[in-house]
Amino acid sequence: MLKMTEFAKRRNQLMQKIGSNGVVILTSSPIAIRNNDCLFSYRQHSDFYYLTGFEEPEAVAIFAPKRKGGQFILFNRVKDRDKEIWEGIRAGQKGACKQFGADESFPIADLEKKLPEILEGREQIHYSLGINKDFDQILLQALNKVRGRVRSGMQSPFAFVDVEPTLHEMRLIKSPAEQMMMRKAAEISADAHIRAMQACVPGMNEYQLEAEITHEFQRNGARYAAYNTIVGSGANSCILHYTDNNKIIKNGDLVLIDAGCEYYNYASDITRTFPANGRFSAEQRAIYEIVLEAQIAGIKAVRPGAAYSLYHSAAVKVITQGLLDLGLLKGSLQDLIEKQAYFKFYMHKSGHWLGLDVHDVGRYKIDKKWRMLQPGMVLTVEPGIYISADLPGVAKRWHNIGIRIEDDVLVTAKGNEVLSHKAPKKIADIESIMS
Ligand code: GLY
Ligand code: MN
Ligand code: MN
Repeated sequence: MLKMTEFAKRRNQLMQKIGSNGVVILTSSPIAIRNNDCLFSYRQHSDFYYLTGFEEPEAVAIFAPKRKGGQFILFNRVKDRDKEIWEGIRAGQKGACKQFGADESFPIADLEKKLPEILEGREQIHYSLGINKDFDQILLQALNKVRGRVRSGMQSPFAFVDVEPTLHEMRLIKSPAEQMMMRKAAEISADAHIRAMQACVPGMNEYQLEAEITHEFQRNGARYAAYNTIVGSGANSCILHYTDNNKIIKNGDLVLIDAGCEYYNYASDITRTFPANGRFSAEQRAIYEIVLEAQIAGIKAVRPGAAYSLYHSAAVKVITQGLLDLGLLKGSLQDLIEKQAYFKFYMHKSGHWLGLDVHDVGRYKIDKKWRMLQPGMVLTVEPGIYISADLPGVAKRWHNIGIRIEDDVLVTAKGNEVLSHKAPKKIADIESIMS
């Protein structure tokens, strides 16, 4: 778990950025019903968590720079012995201040009453309208109350500013402590991929490999996957976000596993593809080598000062050349790249930011140009080639080969660090682990 001082530092940074006339308001994630009276496991909103470390639902956090009663106000659930017997301990108002560093804490039921006085005297409300419709109403009502008092000399806020761009730029650069969390998440996930490779035999069901993955996550303290685990064998390896995971794995199939755990809310995101029987066929090997070379070229393009787009173009070049060499594309390299001829085999981008969310926040372009990479950014590098059986004009021997290789890469001052390096990806290493 990150230290509370880290959360406090982030709050102070954000307050400095918005200035003393602003106020930031964040709401916790809603509770989600799975069915009838059963709930999905609760996961705090990443923005809310980033600034508070507070993981209970039904909470509103307010940051009001230079406010007399204190800058960090947390509205949260009250302690309730009956509820706590059934659902677990709550921090309550005392805990909000003592454990989470709130300057003031009020019961969530007092929100409507208290909100107007917090808004009074502020000029900008930094809040993302339109996401939490219930709270939007509460906030607008509070704002109207303040407007009603302007004749008595009250300053009423006159601007709504989306807090996300400022906050998300902060989240994009990972601190040393965050890097540690992500390193650990990637290490656990790498072990899970190794476990699945070792457990795999033809005749198993895809969900049995998912169980191996989940087992390895949970026994290492990572209760949750950062996204739904993908175990796609044979034809399913060509379905990019396949999550049914319920088919029998056949001899001769490839198995594509895209799985990453969350460690103290920090995500990892790793894909490995391996032959169900432990030996790549000639065709599988040929495609695999192209994807691996593209992925290594992509990782090499991740360094400070390089444009974000560079690693994708590096991967595209290798993939197009590889498909050309195998006769799966015909023409000149430059022409095929320009016309995006590779797209029918490789239809997604080579990666995304990674952090508290698997598809993490932060802009990719600034002033319409791909931004430069900076130390502390973490991104995935995940090229792939997918040849489904219905792809026209491709000989049958290539059918149902879906390969993606995905690593988590931290930009460092000198270049990069592959956080997920422990997951094997060379053909010889995979075959040896599976033998
Ligand atoms: N696991 C989702 C992705 O790779 O983007
Ligand atoms: Mn990914
Ligand atoms: Mn992935």
